[in-house]
Amino acid sequence: MQLESTESNRPAGQRWELIDKYGRRHTSLRISVTDACNIRCKYCMPAVVSGFLSQDRLLSYDAIARIVQVLARAGIRKVRLTGGEPLMRPDLFKLVEKLRSVSGLTQIAMTTNGMLLRDSLDRLVQAGLSHVNISLDTLREPAFREISRRDGLEKVLGGVEAAVRSPLQVRLNALILKDINLEDLIPLVRYARELRIVIRFIEFMPLDASRAWSADQVVTGDELRRIVESEFGPLTPADSSDPSQPARDYFFEDKIGGIGFIDPVSKPFCSDCNRLRLTADGKFRNCLFGQDEWDVKPLVVFPQSESADEAIYQLVRTCVEQKHPSHGISQIGFHPPERAMYQIGG
Ligand code: 5AD
Ligand code: SF4
Repeated sequence: MQLESTESNRPAGQRWELIDKYGRRHTSLRISVTDACNIRCKYCMPAVVSGFLSQDRLLSYDAIARIVQVLARAGIRKVRLTGGEPLMRPDLFKLVEKLRSVSGLTQIAMTTNGMLLRDSLDRLVQAGLSHVNISLDTLREPAFREISRRDGLEKVLGGVEAAVRSPLQVRLNALILKDINLEDLIPLVRYARELRIVIRFIEFMPLDASRAWSADQVVTGDELRRIVESEFGPLTPADSSDPSQPARDYFFEDKIGGIGFIDPVSKPFCSDCNRLRLTADGKFRNCLFGQDEWDVKPLVVFPQSESADEAIYQLVRTCVEQKHPSHGISQIGFHPPERAMYQIGG
């Protein structure tokens, strides 16, 4: 039996919602299910990891589903499973099944590096996954090895192609580093068009564990778009009905495939941010770049009770209320967060 999430069965006068001081309504939750990963992308992980979170520190699937039930009552509509690499967590489809029965959700998405995707796809689809974003930065094995410090490009491509044949809505995510894979831009776009899917390019952010980020390695979305247009002709902006959507998406003239640019460094989109994050060890974060975390794990007690749910909601509300207006990457005195991308959730 599911928890009801209707207005009617709540105590009178109480309305749960996650709106911050700047009026931003939070409807999207990114859930990291593990910090472990099977590759070591240099824009994210260190070459050598001293250890991942032990099993007992991770939120259980029941705990995650319970938190999502509470937050669906407060307006969360979309969830995205991330990591590390989410498919490193055994039987991830079981979490998807639990999430599918939460009323109020409209989307259960996952962001993956694709290495383990082909073999897990059928069960994820059956469980109710609706969208998958697959990270793909190059089509060349040597560059894949240079970026990810591992082999496995053909596994990723196998995952992409299986996903395209599945009922999932599929997108590619690519990150271009000036000195490593700028030459992959056009081949990646061509590949996405052959598959008739959207590819999005995200700017390199200062979230790498090695703290090697520097502004001169960032290729901005505008620079990438100019190169793409010189090869494929003018791009037409797709009108986005959702201002909180961070990507600026475009059509090609022939309407085959599609391309988007996520420019958190050159064009911060914080003023429309609707996202919250939950780390694998149960910490809520209101921003990728925030310095603060709110620990929900001790509040997720079973059996469920209205007062325990209220406590979870109040904690998340506090986290939302403390959200800063913007990340401030380009401001003097900016400090990257203590945790790197794989520890927060991409
Ligand atoms: N900057 C921008 N994006 C990043 N990702 C990981 N690290 C960074 C970073 N430093 C993205 C990857 C992947 C997603 C999980 O997070 O490109 O698509
Ligand atoms: Fe939202 Fe923070 Fe990202 Fe800005 S940097 S869009 S506030 S999560």
